Amino acid sequence: MSTPVSKKTFSLRVTAAIGLIGTILAFVLYFKAPSHVCPPRFAQEEYRHPQEKPIVLVWFWPLGIQFDFKICSTHFHIDSCVLTDNRSLYSQAEGVIFFQKDIDKYLRNLPQDPRPAFQKWIWFHVESPKKTATPPGLDNLFNLTLSYRRDADITVRNELTIRKTELKEDFVLPKKDKLVCWIVSNKNPKTGTAVREQYYRNLSKHIEIHMFGRAYGGHILSYDEYYSTIASCKFYLSFENSIHRDYITEKVNGPLVAGTVPVVLGPPRENYEQFLPADAFIHENDFPDAKSLADFLLQMNDEAYGRYFEWRKFFTATPHLLATKNEFIYPICLACDHISRDKDFHVVQNLYEWYFREQN
Ligand SMILES: *[C@@H]1O[C@H](CO)[C@@H](O)[C@H](O)[C@H]1NC(C)=O
Ligand SMILES: *[C@@H]1O[C@H](CO)[C@@H](O)[C@H](O)[C@H]1NC(C)=O
Ligand SMILES: *[C@@H]1O[C@H](CO)[C@@H](O)[C@H](O)[C@H]1NC(C)=O
Repeated sequence: MSTPVSKKTFSLRVTAAIGLIGTILAFVLYFKAPSHVCPPRFAQEEYRHPQEKPIVLVWFWPLGIQFDFKICSTHFHIDSCVLTDNRSLYSQAEGVIFFQKDIDKYLRNLPQDPRPAFQKWIWFHVESPKKTATPPGLDNLFNLTLSYRRDADITVRNELTIRKTELKEDFVLPKKDKLVCWIVSNKNPKTGTAVREQYYRNLSKHIEIHMFGRAYGGHILSYDEYYSTIASCKFYLSFENSIHRDYITEKVNGPLVAGTVPVVLGPPRENYEQFLPADAFIHENDFPDAKSLADFLLQMNDEAYGRYFEWRKFFTATPHLLATKNEFIYPICLACDHISRDKDFHVVQNLYEWYFREQN
């Protein structure tokens, strides 16, 4: 359980946490990342003028969903490459992005032409290992990984942003008329949902849970209703559909943005604390069982509740885009940005071992 902390210990903690994360990150990058062969710096070939932007080719529209590449510049202020889906530009592309779920199991739909020496193939996958088919032959094929994993080459996450100066005024809580809410559309056990399903069933015996979304026949929210609905609840169940290291999704970002306390179910608390302040959320593992968690939520007074918003003095949460088609644009913008800066040689040797075996 997170204990009350004074502002000072909290900032110390933040400083210590940042240092610790840095150390862990250095360690992880060194020892855990898919092994990269790094011969002397790769000499940039003279195939484009240095002032020209690199071309990044999106080989498949992820799941066939098309979106507007302009969102990278208009929404994310990333404009350092030319994004295209035009395969005629293959031989000039510095980066080619392959969405894992669209790769044919015999790899027949990958480029057949030889890969130019300067070109990097980017493995793009943002789902949990549970949901992923594993066609053989993907080791030693890619140059960069694009994933939610902290040790990916290009990491995609909804991160909190550190404020430049500490916020002085108190956070004004949105009006609450519900205690616990959950928006859930998937209860397909094949995707690993059995753990959270069992927990939800137990918890709902001890506390009322306002359900939204199609999984349990709740009201289906429009995108416009998403943040305001979460804001109207004191607590929000940020239950991941399957449990894997670093697999901490927009389900936590939503309540942090809305001004609601996330109750998380996913990897261990330590893993969450690598990304979020310890007192920004309640972890299911902090309690011996669902009943104790329910009692804790039911009995919390305003003062204790207010402490879950202390982190806002030091960080801001950024709303994530809600439409499905926008789920894929942000990673692609990050890949664009990476390709425009990264000139190093990489080979992802052991993709499957890294992604599938090193999980919780
Ligand atoms: C794709 O690129 C080629 C080569 O630059 C160009 O001739 C062609 O018109 C482009 N196709 C589309 C659909 O933009
Ligand atoms: C859920 O309920 C079952 C049956 O009552 C119990 O065995 C289990 O420990 C409970 N789990 C949690 C997390 O409360
Ligand atoms: C990309 O990976 C391939 C396959 O392992 C390798 O042959 C190529 O040299 C790498 N290119 C770069 C630019 O890192």
